[in-house]
Amino acid sequence: MDQYAVFGNPIAHSKSPDIHMHFAKETQQGINYMRILGDDVEFENQVRAFFEKDGKGLNVTSPFKDRAFAMCDVLSSRAKKAGAVNTLMMGKNGELFGDTTDGVGMVRDIVETHQQSLKGKRILIIGAGGAVQGILDNVLAENPSSVTIANRTVEKAQVLAEKFGCLASSFEALEGAFDLIINGTSASRSSSLPPLKDELANERTWCYDMTYGKGTTVFLQWAIDHGATGADGLGMLVGQAAESFYIWRQVRPDMASLLNAMRQQLE
Ligand code: ATR
Repeated sequence: MDQYAVFGNPIAHSKSPDIHMHFAKETQQGINYMRILGDDVEFENQVRAFFEKDGKGLNVTSPFKDRAFAMCDVLSSRAKKAGAVNTLMMGKNGELFGDTTDGVGMVRDIVETHQQSLKGKRILIIGAGGAVQGILDNVLAENPSSVTIANRTVEKAQVLAEKFGCLASSFEALEGAFDLIINGTSASRSSSLPPLKDELANERTWCYDMTYGKGTTVFLQWAIDHGATGADGLGMLVGQAAESFYIWRQVRPDMASLLNAMRQQLE
């Protein structure tokens, strides 16, 4: 059976094995998928050992996406721009290939699952870390009218804005309502929220939280309190996995039934 795995630290919470085994069953692919706790010192050796033992493909999650990127011999163009990879596989001549599927997973979730177009929209992205860098290219490819990155450390937003060709701002300097707001700060994982002005969202605003959890996230609660609507990032998790699965197996799994089942488990 073809072997796949996800590396991260921590890793016990990872839903990737369940998601990929569900996809495999549905598409009748004979694979096995396991969790591996990445070691702070030995990560690169662990990855090499996995492929030497004929492993077929890896997902990489926090905090190893940058280190996986640095190990690759060949990178997709989207991975080059993101500066991080979440999907690895071995090429025919033993070259390590890296790709990132987070951005395409998120945009597909927004556009296809939630039926929200990004085209012509005034978009605000909150946060300027690795998670945001990984989705910017895909957001800009949808031709929004403008993309503003707001971050606590404004300099980091400015670096990303320059690299990707969009705008940067502090939270205090933001003005007026946005059509779409995407939250990509790690703050929301610990249930805190950056200082967002009331005027940024109204009933015409749609909000997306890259994190998800049991119940409503703090960011989506903020959106609701301002009359806006939105969705959390559970679909992004499933979407990035579906894209990795496609890279490895050349088969596109259906996401809807799995998403429904996972949502019910969370509630
Ligand atoms: P990730 O890989 O999840 O993107 P990261 O690269 O460490 O993690 O980036 C974390 C992001 O969340 C950054 O934009 C960070 O803001 P700073 O660049 O100013 O550190 C943001 N963040 C984390 N905690 C925050 C908080 N309490 N308030 C506002 N922003 C926060």
